[in-house]
Amino acid sequence: MKRLLIVSNRLPISVSRKNGDLRLQRSVGGLATGVGSFYKSYESLWVGWPGINIQKQQNEEKERIVDVLRKEQCHPVFLSPYDIRHYYDGFCNNTLWPLLHYFNLHAEYDPKTWQVYQRVNEKFCDAVMEVARPDDTIWVHDYHLMLLPQMLRERLPDAEIGYFHHIPFPSFEVFRHLPWREEILSGLLGADLIGFHTYGYVRHFLSSVRRLLGYEHTFGEVRTGTRVVRTDLFPMGIDYHRFADSAGSAPVQKEITRIRQMYGKRKIILSFDRMDYTKGIPLRLEAFDALLEKKPDYQGKVSLVLVAVPSRTGVRSYQTLKKRIDELVGRINGKYGTTDWVPVRYFYNFLPFETLVAFYSAADVALVTPLRDGMNLMAKEYVATRTDGTGVLILSEMAGAAEELGEAIIVNPNDRDAVIEAIETALAMPEKEQIERNRTMQRRLMRYDIEHWVGDFLTRLGDARTVRVERS
Ligand code: G6P
Repeated sequence: MKRLLIVSNRLPISVSRKNGDLRLQRSVGGLATGVGSFYKSYESLWVGWPGINIQKQQNEEKERIVDVLRKEQCHPVFLSPYDIRHYYDGFCNNTLWPLLHYFNLHAEYDPKTWQVYQRVNEKFCDAVMEVARPDDTIWVHDYHLMLLPQMLRERLPDAEIGYFHHIPFPSFEVFRHLPWREEILSGLLGADLIGFHTYGYVRHFLSSVRRLLGYEHTFGEVRTGTRVVRTDLFPMGIDYHRFADSAGSAPVQKEITRIRQMYGKRKIILSFDRMDYTKGIPLRLEAFDALLEKKPDYQGKVSLVLVAVPSRTGVRSYQTLKKRIDELVGRINGKYGTTDWVPVRYFYNFLPFETLVAFYSAADVALVTPLRDGMNLMAKEYVATRTDGTGVLILSEMAGAAEELGEAIIVNPNDRDAVIEAIETALAMPEKEQIERNRTMQRRLMRYDIEHWVGDFLTRLGDARTVRVERS
């Protein structure tokens, strides 16, 4: 069997320093959790950034990290503080991320960060060349590395190269704002197969390719003049059984009991995300506030557990968001809180897996209302964890996951009244109906799990051998 070389900005394992020692931790985010749950079952090597700042001269530390990560089937690409500032915080998260999520007013177009983005993509290309074997299947992931497929194609003309885009691909009218739009599209077209979570994203991508590069497509196949590139949708699944099985494990059960004791008979609404403005956390809090105000009966009977995992703290828009959320939580708790009831329990922290599953299991309602989200695996994880079938998922129609989870209560996250109504419906939903809805979603999630996703993508990639077409 061929070896799989996975390339992404972030490795599934993040390395940090603690009292002079190296500490390993699972990385957060859809890509790391999703892809991270299967790669070890393959003959694979994952190339990416270990999430730690390294100065040029720290060679000894670099070697230690290489050794530690080798055992995890990972190969590090070291980024300097300068790279992190201009490539990661800059072009990736201050230009591409907001633009591709339709937050074009947050996007900055700085030629310097673009330059560093190109250079860091080359750095990744060099790192792949260091470890690649002639027969490897190379699978590049996400918006940090959109130039990499073409860079690899130039150095490995016959390689099998796939690319998967984990975030939305917006309409041409939004994508066209980017000054380097043609370069980004050409970068992606170095792949044999380009995958997206939804059909909408595929359509938008193909329309940008046609309007900006002039390449037509037939049934998702783009002819560039020398090659054929396939595009398709591959909605990412989760490691279903890991979530379902963990729910019954002793450590999770212990944690559930602890949570339940803390909240007593109160209903728990769970909100769990990375701290990111695309997730719509302030609007969610405002809806909760308005619910408590309009319907005082809920006061003292419902708690919102708000978990926001620190993310991209070097980017200004994320710092502003954190401040806003701190203030909103303070305001709501100050307004309604009593000596024995805290309306919003707020955690700005990373949650260990067992605690996360325990929160999924204990929560009567999961409130997942991003303003834009490529997929949102958390919604799927919540449903998978509900082994007794109870629990209600409220899901934003702006999340890729909404296309597969139609039995959830689907809302427009900008419509505050609709969100309030959804919360009320969820809190009042009869158990029988909860179970019916969840069982249908569970069957689907079980079938289209992460293994299915990987298998499907890799099979299609195998089929999509580069076909040379005659130059006209
Ligand atoms: C999203 C992206 C991933 C990214 C994750 C976490 O899920 O699609 O590529 O890794 O967010 O963000 P971070 O900046 O911490 O890697």
